[in-house]
Formats: sequence, C-alpha cells, structure tokens
Amino acid sequence: MSKIREIMRASPVMPVIVIDRVEDAVPLAQALVAGGIRVLEVTLRTAAALDSIRAIAAAVPEAIVGVGTVTRPAQFAEVKAAGAVFAVTPGLTEELAAAARAADMPLLPGVMTPSEVIAALGWGFDAMKLFPAEQAGGIGMLKALGGPLAEVLFCPTGGVSLESAPKFLALPNVGCVGGSWLVPKDRVAAGDWAAITTLAREAAALRG
Ligand code: 3PG
Repeated sequence: MSKIREIMRASPVMPVIVIDRVEDAVPLAQALVAGGIRVLEVTLRTAAALDSIRAIAAAVPEAIVGVGTVTRPAQFAEVKAAGAVFAVTPGLTEELAAAARAADMPLLPGVMTPSEVIAALGWGFDAMKLFPAEQAGGIGMLKALGGPLAEVLFCPTGGVSLESAPKFLALPNVGCVGGSWLVPKDRVAAGDWAAITTLAREAAALRG
C-alpha cells in the first residue's frame, strides 16, 4: 500500500487547518488528537504555517502532520525540513509531481477531471484529492470516476460536512474526506479546545 493510502486509512476525516497564530498550533493539534483525529493538514496559507508544522511535529508525536495548499515545487523541501510527513496540493503539474518525488514526500494531489486523474496516474499516484469535491459533482462524480478509474482512491474535499461525510465514506473509491468544519475559526480564536475535541470525536466516529 502506498504511504499516502496508509495515511488516508488512519483517519476518516483529514481536517483542513488554517493557523493564524503559531501559539495555537500545539493546543489545536492536541485537541484534535484527543478526539481521535491524528492526520492533520496544516495549510500553507498563513505566515504562521511553517512554524506551526514545526511546533506540532516537535510537541505532538501522536499526530501525523502534513502540509496543505502546496502550490510551488520549492515548498516540498521546505515543509519536509519543518517536519511535515505528507503533502496535499489543490491541483497537480508535472513540476509538482517531480518535486514531491525528489523530496521523497508522500503526496495527495488535487484533481477535478478524468484527464487530471489519468495524468496523475501516469505520474505514479494512486490516491488523489477530489477538489473542490462538491463543485466537481460530489457523490455522482465519484461514482462515475469509479467506473473507468476504479483503481484510484479519493479524498473528496471542499463542501463536505459532518452530515454529508457518511455518504462519501460509503463509496468504495473513497478512503477519507477532507474538511475544515472540525476547526472553526471562532473556536480557534477563542481557544475553545474542548469544542474542537468534540468535533474531532464526532468525525473520528464516522468510521467505527
Ligand atoms: C480548503 O482547501 O479550504 C478545503 O477545500 C476545505 O473546504 P471546506 O471548507 O468546504 O471543508
């Protein structure tokens, strides 16, 4: 099994995390892990992202910390040095695929069309993020892709919720789903880690 498939099996939901203040990183990761969500996608969307990955990797050994929103080839080496053990991209180019390989970084590449799935298969990927999942057609799109491209395992992300997640997870070609609902901005700003543990517990229970 590819490393990225192993990571997808470790958690039914991959939280898409945006961290504004590096001091929130460790308590947030601990709150998610306490609720049973160990796979974390920390997005490179804020100035605090790299230091947050570094802090989580050092202080929360139970977490499987990855990086999201990777869009430039040079970022793979940088995030690996910070301690990220996998990466997620919103889309895929040949340059990104080559850079992930050169950095020996397991990658969950974003795709949205059959041609993109075929290109990613050609570059050696057997697991992909369907992004943005709802806009790409959601459940119907995944069922349709499962015909000709059944060997691909997907992590649909974008518009997935606690309510819709079970329908996605019931599909044979879905390994996990991604979503930001576990990490509401206002709960993080308030330091309400107990609320995040509750959301993580609900998400972890999606795969019994
Ligand atoms: C993202 O990259 O922000 C993800 O697609 C999250 O989408 P969501 O907020 O709809 O879960």
